[in-house]
Amino acid sequence: MDAIPMPFLTPSPVQKLTVKPELDLYIKRDDLIHPIVSGNKWRKLQGFFQILRPGEPITTFGGAFSNHLPAAAFAAKHFGHPITGVVRGEELNASSNDLLKYCQAQGMALEFVSRSAFRSLRETGWTGYSGRVLPEGGAGSHAMEGCGEIWKELAHEPDHLVLASGTGTTVSGILAAMPPHCKTQVHVVSAVKGALIECAAAQQQALAKHITLHWEDETRFGGFGKWSPSLLEEAENFEQTTGIPLDPNYNAKVWAYLQRTSLQGNVVWIHTGGVRF
Ligand SMILES: Cc1ncc(COP(=O)(O)O)c(C=O)c1O
Repeated sequence: MDAIPMPFLTPSPVQKLTVKPELDLYIKRDDLIHPIVSGNKWRKLQGFFQILRPGEPITTFGGAFSNHLPAAAFAAKHFGHPITGVVRGEELNASSNDLLKYCQAQGMALEFVSRSAFRSLRETGWTGYSGRVLPEGGAGSHAMEGCGEIWKELAHEPDHLVLASGTGTTVSGILAAMPPHCKTQVHVVSAVKGALIECAAAQQQALAKHITLHWEDETRFGGFGKWSPSLLEEAENFEQTTGIPLDPNYNAKVWAYLQRTSLQGNVVWIHTGGVRF
């Protein structure tokens, strides 16, 4: 496949935000890349789809609330690949939630496995399935390279770059693309409480390049998949003022971080998307 056809909007636009006037704040709208293959999902999947043979079948993996599954389902249909989604939770079925219903409607064959079976699949590197394997969350070297594109699309090196993190793949791809001794300070807002391994990996990568990285642990809202009424309220106020939606798991927590932090110089926030089913 030579070029990725539309409707994927890249480079994603950068927009000035005036909601916190004391801050010279810009937002890179990766959430606009696509309504379903939104934000870092497309960054992670793009390279994977480029290496496939025409019509090559895919098997991928994820939780029942994972944005990765619908993104992979849409992209597989769009590029003409049959796809199987192996879902964590044997008690579930294709009608268990809207996200799974969407995946099935896109033509994804769903297979439900127990949590322990899913864990051993993760530990053994997703072996035992036919077709091209796309790991949980779309991880892989193609994902790192794709996330590096976020950095390459920036016209200037900002003073601060702020983004959410889960597995750390997105920030790792960005750090890999940044030049050594880059003046940009990276602020990582983790959606996961106590993500020590991911934090250490990012710090080590930044240190090797003499880049300053601040890792903000998720100690305020209860950890992954948790949020408070005031976080939701702030996200809603933000959306009403700017017209930009924020998912509660990742980008609402970045907004909360920006609100409580004072940063000097210009700040670019990478909006990593997130679809609300
Ligand atoms: C909307 C959104 N933002 C941020 C992240 C975190 O990305 P990563 O797992 O690459 O750190 C995810 C998870 O993939 C996500 O769905």
